Amino acid sequence: MRDIFIELTTACNFNCEFCPYHLLTRKKEVLSLDNLQKILGTLKELDGIDYIMFSALGEPLLHPEFMAACQMVKDYGFRLVVTTNGSLLREDHKKLAVDDIYLSFQTTTEQSFSHRQAKNLSFSLYLDVIKQFVQGQHPRTIIYLMGTGLFKTMVHNKGFMDIELDFDNTEPALKIINKYGKFFEPSFQEITDMNYDFSNNKYIFVRDNLYLYLSMLYNWCNLILPPGYTYIPSRSIDAKTCDYYEKQIIILANGDVTFCCMDYDGSMIQGNIFQEDLRDLIAKKEKVLDLAVYKLCRQCKGKVIRNSLLHRQRS
Ligand SMILES: C[S@@+](CC[C@H](N)C(=O)[O-])C[C@H]1O[C@@H](n2cnc3c(N)ncnc32)[C@H](O)[C@@H]1O
Ligand code: SF4
Ligand code: SF4
Repeated sequence: MRDIFIELTTACNFNCEFCPYHLLTRKKEVLSLDNLQKILGTLKELDGIDYIMFSALGEPLLHPEFMAACQMVKDYGFRLVVTTNGSLLREDHKKLAVDDIYLSFQTTTEQSFSHRQAKNLSFSLYLDVIKQFVQGQHPRTIIYLMGTGLFKTMVHNKGFMDIELDFDNTEPALKIINKYGKFFEPSFQEITDMNYDFSNNKYIFVRDNLYLYLSMLYNWCNLILPPGYTYIPSRSIDAKTCDYYEKQIIILANGDVTFCCMDYDGSMIQGNIFQEDLRDLIAKKEKVLDLAVYKLCRQCKGKVIRNSLLHRQRS
């Protein structure tokens, strides 16, 4: 199975502190409908496509012909998922030809929302836009709530942002989940189980076509670390150990092809889909057996340590 990501635009109307958008050096581009059609024609010849996702970096709803782009994917017979910060969702998007909307609501307080640097949008307006969208008929929508806590190895994930939701702290975490469940759907069945296992209950049913999803704050290949932390790069990474590299194909807005959705700046590009056969690009990446050839992979699989420990290791 392959997961295909298509970047409709590199531009974004947010600048979330937890996302490497602010580190982007690629040119901001928009994928034209003609080029989308060429890509879909190529993908149609490839086996085992699970779904197409409009996501990479950037905000897909900023695409000037977003609805037509969705319709085109459906006309080609693919399942379509859109990942969006949700701020631009409007009434007519309720009729979108989309199977799933992953709505990255993520930050659950005014304070944490401020770290997303949303242009001309207050937290209360953001809440209104989302609530409005999930009233009545709409495509299946999964509202992401970002939390910290589950992965104990990522000791640094607390303190890297003031995320309210801490999955290690059951009672306050359930309060936040129940608050938003009820906010989006007053008949939401509250969760009261104080032994609730957050790792096994990532999808929370709100009502037909509406779910909450418990997402986990991560440090994006160790690119975004809190002050005082650094990483020691990994020297060797067996390509078979990375599911992302194995399964994903990411087509950036200019047609460049990379094989990991974390490769926000295209540092692992194998070629361009408008100039080379996609199968040749896949064959090229399959020849890479040790991911340590890529700087981003060395950093991603590197070991996070406190700066003070690094000094000790060097001396
Ligand atoms: C890079 S965004 C692109 C699509 C769109 N702009 C959005 O925000 O949904 C894709 C997803 O990555 C999530 N994301 C970005 N940085 C993250 C981090 N450090 N930890 C967890 N999720 C992150 C976003 O919240 C979003 O759900
Ligand atoms: S997470 Fe999405 S909304 Fe936030 S800056 Fe990154 S691309 Fe934009
Ligand atoms: S950056 Fe490399 S190691 Fe990390 S998820 Fe992507 S392909 Fe895998």
